[in-house]
Amino acid sequence: MNYRHAFHAGNHADVLKHAVLLYCLDALKRKETPFAVLDTHAGRGLYDLGGPEAERSPEWRDGVGRLWNWPDPPPLAARYLEAIRGFNADGELRTYPGSPALATTALRDNDVLMACELHPEDRAALRRALPRKSNVQVHERDGWEALGALLPPAQRRGLVLIDPPYEEPDELARAAGALGAALKRFGHGMYLWWRPLKSEAALDTADAEILKHGPRETLRADLWIAAPQRDGRLVGSSVYLVNPPFGLREALSEALPFLADALTKGQSGWRLT
Ligand SMILES: C[S@@+](CC[C@H](N)C(=O)[O-])C[C@H]1O[C@@H](n2cnc3c(N)ncnc32)[C@H](O)[C@@H]1O
Repeated sequence: MNYRHAFHAGNHADVLKHAVLLYCLDALKRKETPFAVLDTHAGRGLYDLGGPEAERSPEWRDGVGRLWNWPDPPPLAARYLEAIRGFNADGELRTYPGSPALATTALRDNDVLMACELHPEDRAALRRALPRKSNVQVHERDGWEALGALLPPAQRRGLVLIDPPYEEPDELARAAGALGAALKRFGHGMYLWWRPLKSEAALDTADAEILKHGPRETLRADLWIAAPQRDGRLVGSSVYLVNPPFGLREALSEALPFLADALTKGQSGWRLT
């Protein structure tokens, strides 16, 4: 396991993923009944933007950094920035919250977060980063295995975030297979699956794999900030939702053109299907 999210925290891909994550959590809170969040690949929770990794790879500057002082962003982006501000109370952007930290901001006392992280150092950091509360659980558990073991959650409603590092060549197919299997256990759950946008055809194949498990309501949002790079640098990402919350399509159709313009480094663009 070589991947460390600290090199990428707050980049364009995190902006898209975390803005959608917060929309999903807000939507779950529209009902009073408790929900669970399963974060299969959680990371370390909080990222120091002045730390050595972010200094070496300051991707956040062209991600959340560009949006930080934006005067009037569309609601999806405004909600995201409001959550990031909660971790930077003095107005200086120094700390970037990862998915489990953002999730804890949305939990009520009866809602539960189950965050899985396999890297020992990142898991220890995650334990330090998250509030010490009984409804916030950090698991030393393989995220793929957790999809079988922890679903369906006792609450019978909730969100599953699948955000692996894609270090292995077969990880896209593996994720599609794991999501398909999870749908058999927790078919009415909300799923947010993040993928790197490198090959549109590979993502189309992965999406088709999910639909083999039966017709579902799905939503896919792609955002790229430049044309594909020869050095393989990530310039685009895609989120795929199963059972997306009401209103997300409209929120994204407003936010995606804004994000493509605000984060552009050349030929940016977006797609919503
Ligand atoms: C892309 S990062 C997660 C970022 C995080 N979800 C966020 O949005 O802030 C992927 C994380 O998964 C961890 N990881 C890798 N393989 C894993 C596995 N099989 N199960 C659980 N965690 C794993 C890595 O150590 C890394 O911290």
